[in-house]
Amino acid sequence: MSIVFSGVRPTGQMHLGNYLGAFKNWVVNQEMAESYYCIVDLHALAEEVDPKVLKERTILTAVTLLSIGLDPEKCTLFVQSTVDSHVKMAWLLSCIGSFGELSRMTQFKDKSQTNMLKKGEVSVKVALFTYPILMAADILAYGADKVPVGDDQKQHLELTRDIAVRFNGSYGDILTVPDALIPPKGSRIMDLLNPTVKMSKSAGSDAGVIYILDEPKVIEKKIKSAVTDSLSSVNYDFVNQPGVSNLLEIFSAITDEDPKIIASQYQNYGSLKKDLAEVLIDRLSDIRQSALELNKNLDEIYKILEIGKAKAYDHSSPIVKSVEDAMGLI
Ligand code: TYM
Repeated sequence: MSIVFSGVRPTGQMHLGNYLGAFKNWVVNQEMAESYYCIVDLHALAEEVDPKVLKERTILTAVTLLSIGLDPEKCTLFVQSTVDSHVKMAWLLSCIGSFGELSRMTQFKDKSQTNMLKKGEVSVKVALFTYPILMAADILAYGADKVPVGDDQKQHLELTRDIAVRFNGSYGDILTVPDALIPPKGSRIMDLLNPTVKMSKSAGSDAGVIYILDEPKVIEKKIKSAVTDSLSSVNYDFVNQPGVSNLLEIFSAITDEDPKIIASQYQNYGSLKKDLAEVLIDRLSDIRQSALELNKNLDEIYKILEIGKAKAYDHSSPIVKSVEDAMGLI
């Protein structure tokens, strides 16, 4: 049976990009692979966050993932900081990864530049730089062969593969070299108001981001206000019509229909938006209902995470041990 690992930062409310780019695939994979899904709170610390808010968001993330359909009987859901394999492995792999390859990570370059402009060099944390090593550690400590993620994680996955190959070259065939599992549709959902940037938890305005737990009326309003263009014809063409194409991409990822065929069924943006809002509300309202129920019994959520922690530890610690052993630690 193949082993699947993936993670999400509890840095804000989960949105449609997270759902279509990653979580939808997580639910599918729990049926056919030994799956580990991790709320990566240590990664969240790489950026400014209030401790109380981080705790709340960690639990809200667990609630959202369970509402989407992760089933603790079929997969292991846990919090990264509760299993010490991750930090141990991160140190070991930081002795394999190089300064040069980490400097080339586009996410580091973008984020460090933004922080630098805001507050100067002192605001760029070392953790922002070593972030991809911790991510490689997450994946490699579980011997994962598949990692379901959105398109923005491709470069981090490449680095993970390079580190695994280099490690195996030096110390023997111990680490599994993982493949990214990127969905054919929905791997890069764009902001509804600015379709040239990806939909993100840290977007400047909520209006361009559909949150998984948004109320139906809010979803309808956000889709209605989505930026289109003045061409007045519905085409799947990201270069010339990025706004409309993003709506078609979302439609396609939800319904599994070809975006060009969907485009051919509409003569104007109004009717496309109306039907898209309907399919989205249809898909997300059950999830929202289930989250409201789960929120009433947070003890149950803590219990699920506690069981997940034990299963994650049991699976990862022998792999970390064999890495320590191969590297000469007694
Ligand atoms: P994060 O928390 O930013 O996002 C979680 C998942 O959602 C995907 N995603 C998107 N997909 C499509 N369109 C979007 N607009 C969009 N925004 C986000 C991401 O690609 C991701 O799959 N570094 C990771 C967390 C991580 C991880 C790991 C992932 C840490 N360790 C090990 C996999 C394996 C991150 O920041 O994801």
